[in-house]
Amino acid sequence: MPENREYFNRRLHSLLGVIPIGIFLIQHFIVNHFAVYGASSFNAAASFMESLPFRYALEIFIIFLPILYHAIYGLYIVFQGKNNTRRYGYFRNWMFLLQRVTGVFLLIFIAWHVWETRVQAALGVDVNYDMMADILSSPWMLAFYIAGVLSATFHFANGLWSFAVSWGITITPRSQLIMTYVSIGVFVVLSFVGIRAILAFINPDLANI
Ligand code: HEM
Repeated sequence: MPENREYFNRRLHSLLGVIPIGIFLIQHFIVNHFAVYGASSFNAAASFMESLPFRYALEIFIIFLPILYHAIYGLYIVFQGKNNTRRYGYFRNWMFLLQRVTGVFLLIFIAWHVWETRVQAALGVDVNYDMMADILSSPWMLAFYIAGVLSATFHFANGLWSFAVSWGITITPRSQLIMTYVSIGVFVVLSFVGIRAILAFINPDLANI
């Protein structure tokens, strides 16, 4: 019975990483990317998201609870102390370690980011382009946000690789190699979109590359 529960928890943790958390990550980056087209474009995209019907239910059930479960169970996986028992090569062991390091960093980053934006919005602060530009004007915060974006894109892209193995989608070495290239592509594209959006907040000209 405890093994069944462990199996279920693992599966749920894995699924939530892609649906809905991974999907939300992509949507969040697309909204942020509107900053590249100027402050008013970003503000319009952000207000559209805020005006969605059932906003609180969507935030709680599609974002907050799945991330909370994935993060708490993720910490359990990291600190239960089991090392990589699967026999993969040198590269895969590094990816395995980085998946855990970025997961723990993301927990800190997401908690801070939510405090600085969503909680402040709930307290009546206007969360808009100017507010993000102000936050990112500090070099420390800029570095922290770049690290947060790269951790999220790496964790999601590499997570897609292990997700495909966990769910039996990639079984042969060849399909796993193809999936490695797919995940590198996802990492590069999402990192480009995420970093470009950050640059648009600190210097609109920098984003025009
Ligand atoms: C942007 C937010 C996040 C996204 C999009 C995300 C996504 C994913 C995905 C897709 C996987 C692969 C699932 C699988 O192997 O089947 C995964 C695995 C993992 N995540 Fe996250 N995650 C996020 C945040 C976090 C946080 C905050 C933690 C906290 C520690 C965490 C810890 C882990 C761990 C430990 C694994 C590896 C599980 C394993 O190898 O069995 N993740 N994540």
